[in-house]
Amino acid sequence: MSHISTILEQTSFSSADLQQLLLCDGEEKRLLFKKSGEVKDLNVGNKVYFRGLIEFSNVCDKDCYYCGIRKSNRTARRYNLTDTEILDAARFADENKFGSVVLQSGENSSPAFSDRIERLVRQIKHISEGRLGITLSVGEQTETVYRRWFEAGAHRYLLRIETTNPLLYHKIHPDDELHDFNHRLDCLHSLQRLGYQVGTGVMIGLPFQTTADLANDLLFFQQFGIDMVGMGPYIEHSETPLYEFRHELLPIQERFDLSLKMIAILRILMKDINIAAATALQAIDPLGREKGVKVGANIIMPNITPGFYRNDYSLYQNKPCIDEEPAQCKGCLDARIALADGEIGYGEWGDSKHFMKNKENNELKN
Ligand code: 5AD
Ligand code: FES
Repeated sequence: MSHISTILEQTSFSSADLQQLLLCDGEEKRLLFKKSGEVKDLNVGNKVYFRGLIEFSNVCDKDCYYCGIRKSNRTARRYNLTDTEILDAARFADENKFGSVVLQSGENSSPAFSDRIERLVRQIKHISEGRLGITLSVGEQTETVYRRWFEAGAHRYLLRIETTNPLLYHKIHPDDELHDFNHRLDCLHSLQRLGYQVGTGVMIGLPFQTTADLANDLLFFQQFGIDMVGMGPYIEHSETPLYEFRHELLPIQERFDLSLKMIAILRILMKDINIAAATALQAIDPLGREKGVKVGANIIMPNITPGFYRNDYSLYQNKPCIDEEPAQCKGCLDARIALADGEIGYGEWGDSKHFMKNKENNELKN
């Protein structure tokens, strides 16, 4: 086995190298985080960009075994924000120079839903006079629908692959066509073809997940040429089928630690992409997102859903900041990012450099 410092000097990494990095500890882990911090400073700088997250509805057609808002969870109190509430949240983001918003909800593929999203995208562009960048995170849809939304002005899309091991994917989802691994992959390809900046991600510390699975997840991001990644620890939810396997899980602190290592290694592997410090990190450690920023993340998604509804968008339990109103969050975040030696890119879109470089190369070729 090579020493960690030798691996860190390499320019390409095998699955075995990545696994060794994922398992490192103590002094070796310190070296890993030092290196990822340096790579980050050199390639994307110390700016952290905000994406104001609007969780506009927890109504969901899907039944993923890990998720608290799955269709079969009868204990979830369902809500759907009005258009006015969504536009007010977007206005808040614009006035506070957040640069971008993310519209996220449970999955719905009805024509009424696609019409609504298209309308909202146009309205957000209009009220912010084009200032707000718009990211969508509303699941698997047809290419036609993705195209309509892109043409309306959405330019980024988040769709986590959850795990790149098809067998593990199968274990954590129902066995039906609504939860098909290959379909999810096809969606990611459609989004890339259409010209979106594409983001994906995985959960870390799932039951039955191995270190090799996580190494393959990282290699997948690289091979796919992903522009953005958001990944965080799996956190068990008592009202879901996967809760039964809670005794198989790594201790929560280890899942947290592994998530930080995934972020750090990904930053070394893909130097110029956007990496989000997932909120789930903060659910485990009050300084979780800041720690994520220190080791390589450059995006934070402050929750700007009106406080009244926040408690009900419970993908996992112990979700942080559910009692705060958006204005309180902002003051809190300014202080937090400064602690992580970061600077907030107010009023900037903070697009993925990786995406912009690819776009320029393609334009030169054509
Ligand atoms: N723990 C951590 N993350 C979760 N998600 C859903 N349920 C959980 C959970 N129990 C993540 C999924 C999904 C994203 C919106 O939230 O990765 O894609
Ligand atoms: Fe939400 Fe601090 S980030 S209150």
